[in-house]
Amino acid sequence: MYVCVCNAIKNSEIQDLANRGVRRAADVYAALEVNRNCANCAEYVQEALDDCRSDHTQSA
Ligand code: FES
Repeated sequence: MYVCVCNAIKNSEIQDLANRGVRRAADVYAALEVNRNCANCAEYVQEALDDCRSDHTQSA
């Protein structure tokens, strides 16, 4: 599923970055070398990062 339509960023890519220590939405865009165009996705990118992080916290 695409989280960012402008840059075709998938949820799985965000989860992968979260697993590599990315914690902020701005760092997702930087890591993927894309620009945050409309910014409609910023909230969802951060939620995806936080969800992955809480999954790891619960399983630890
Ligand atoms: S949907 Fe991500 S920048 Fe527009």
